[in-house]
Amino acid sequence: MQAFNPPVRTLMGPGPSDVHPRILEAMSRPTIGHLDPEFIRMMDELKELLQYTFQTGNAMTMPVSAPGSAGMEACFVNLVEPGDKVIVCQNGVFGGRMKENVERCGGTPVMVEDAWGEAIDSNKLEDALKAHPDAAIVAMVHAETSTGAQSDVAKLVQLAHKYDCLTIVDTVTSLGGSPVKVDEWGIDAIYSGSQKCLSCTPGISPVSFNERALEKVRNRQSKVQSWFLDLNLVMGYWGTGAKRAYHHTAPINALYALHEALLMLKEEGLENAWARHAKNHRVLKAGLEAMGLQFVVKEADRLPQLNAVTIPEGVDDAVVRSRLLNDFNLEIGAGLGALAGKVWRIGLMGHSSRTENILLCVGALESVLGDLGADINRGVALAAMQKALG
Ligand SMILES: Cc1ncc(COP(=O)(O)O)c(C=O)c1O
Repeated sequence: MQAFNPPVRTLMGPGPSDVHPRILEAMSRPTIGHLDPEFIRMMDELKELLQYTFQTGNAMTMPVSAPGSAGMEACFVNLVEPGDKVIVCQNGVFGGRMKENVERCGGTPVMVEDAWGEAIDSNKLEDALKAHPDAAIVAMVHAETSTGAQSDVAKLVQLAHKYDCLTIVDTVTSLGGSPVKVDEWGIDAIYSGSQKCLSCTPGISPVSFNERALEKVRNRQSKVQSWFLDLNLVMGYWGTGAKRAYHHTAPINALYALHEALLMLKEEGLENAWARHAKNHRVLKAGLEAMGLQFVVKEADRLPQLNAVTIPEGVDDAVVRSRLLNDFNLEIGAGLGALAGKVWRIGLMGHSSRTENILLCVGALESVLGDLGADINRGVALAAMQKALG
């Protein structure tokens, strides 16, 4: 065996996204103890940076030491008690995982389903809220990574509150790439991931809980079933103030990386990052559409950072993706679940959301699809993208 030296790829799938060298360098700084006063100072800054990124004043804002799925579980295991009825809005793969979480917490899920590729329908949610006045929580995915559809979380949360429900919102793919406003939208519990629009290394999940959510956690009749994710215990380490006690050994260097990633986002400015993602989506769209590829999601509901396009008739999904990887060192995403083999998911997340990546991706796709004899328009995408670049 030898040291593992990965190839240098351009990551334009559904995550992880390209990690900026500044973040990789931060990760290689000396490891110190998880209760070292200098580390604790960095933790306080990290919490502040997360509050900025989530646009919240919530004191209970912290990174869970595990990937987005653990952030999801942290929300469900703390808020859902056995017997709780939870309305889960599902319009793709990740709503299905929320259902699993509710069941494993002993709750009863009530599913509100929308077609894959569509946004969550607020009318359907309101019908479910009327039909289930005993529901305690509404859970939803802001940015469905499996389809590239985004839902109107502000409106859905307002509706849930009208019927006295708490809300759990998944922003794994949206945070940092499109507006997420925890306090303004009234979100009660939220989680995200480090590896998408925050462009950090994978494995950390930022979460935030407001007072209403914490009130429910404090008044639980039963213990939180997960020791590791029990907020009451984790806060002994991540809480505010000088007193911090050992809970688990934090992933020290991964947290340096997150600190650097969030610092870079702050330096750019959240609004500027959202605008960059929106602009780059327009450029990619111009190129792909000029080639003749079609988007899965209608324009009004489309996520700028996750572009799902239909695979042209007769083209083998796996052949194209492996040619892109082997010949161009470019990764794009396959379809998930019901969309497997039918769509490609092209990510423009965080540091991956750059003009040079778009030109590479569209050029490489045109070259591979052309070679395979696919029915696409050749030689027009570049001009369309130049026009969109302005
Ligand atoms: C919307 C959504 N939720 C949850 C997750 C799970 O995150 P992770 O893979 O970091 O555990 C993902 C990952 O792609 C996601 O896209």
